Amino acid sequence: MTALLEIEDLEVVFDGFRAIDHLSFQLDEGELRFLIGPNGAGKTTLIDVVTGLTRPAGGSVRFEGTELVGRREHEIVRRGVGRTFQTATVFEQLTVQENVDLAATFRMPYRSLLRRARRPAGGVMQALATVELEGVADRPAAVLSHGQRQWLELAMLLVQQPRLLLLDEPVAGMTKQERSRTGELLGQIAKERTVLVVEHDMDFLRRFASTVTVMHEGKILCEGPLAEVQANPMVQEVYLGRSERGTPALVGAVAVPQDPPGSGDAAVTGGAQAAGAR
Ligand SMILES: Nc1ncnc2c1ncn2[C@@H]1O[C@H](COP(=O)(O)OP(=O)(O)O)[C@@H](O)[C@H]1O
Ligand SMILES: [Mg+2]
Repeated sequence: MTALLEIEDLEVVFDGFRAIDHLSFQLDEGELRFLIGPNGAGKTTLIDVVTGLTRPAGGSVRFEGTELVGRREHEIVRRGVGRTFQTATVFEQLTVQENVDLAATFRMPYRSLLRRARRPAGGVMQALATVELEGVADRPAAVLSHGQRQWLELAMLLVQQPRLLLLDEPVAGMTKQERSRTGELLGQIAKERTVLVVEHDMDFLRRFASTVTVMHEGKILCEGPLAEVQANPMVQEVYLGRSERGTPALVGAVAVPQDPPGSGDAAVTGGAQAAGAR
């Protein structure tokens, strides 16, 4: 059986700097894989290459056996590869539902766009339900909390029915509650799709990660169950040696934003809190 995503001997060079260095990586159908590594390891660049944003100097990226290198971004999306960015990109003036509705049209052929009825397609409400934002469907995206914004971006991705999701630091800046909810959400999403998550929050990894791949200086350093990876001396060296430069510690607690005082479940489940906030 071939892997869903198969990256071979990948090389990315920026002005002589080798951001990805002869990297090979595989992801099987149905996996929920975590990708970690110090800042500058090349994690975002790897996602950029898979999604057609950055052209590699060499190597190949095969998705379901098809070469993606050289294909345009929109074609890669149409083939079933979706991503989120480190900073959520949503249209603030549009409502939550309109954002998802718009995203739903990305993969649609022109003719079906013309025939499309004005009421939202079933998939839109379903995506909103998955991320628990139905309660704020008619509110402008501008009123969403930081965490809800990330979930909206996720809904915009889900509605496109990707087979492979690449999520770049989806819990960055989230409160503890929002992180928990996102972790559960990822588990749920991964039941139907293959998911690669870039994340290095230790608490989050401990709770939700099974298989972890560690990247360092454009290469794969090691791969395996979290406990095994943590015990690897090379991994410890990379993280400990860099901790002064602001790289999150792989071992030990990582500071997370506190939940606002008085925030109950509403902050997690969407609905009332954001809607009532303004
Ligand atoms: N467009 C670019 N031009 C030049 N250098 C880049 C560019 N994008 C990333 N880099 C460099 O490549 C390295 C890997 O970056 P990145 O993939 O963002 O790392 P990570 O996501 O693991 O923190 C870094 O040293 C970064 O400065
Ligand atoms: Mg990054």
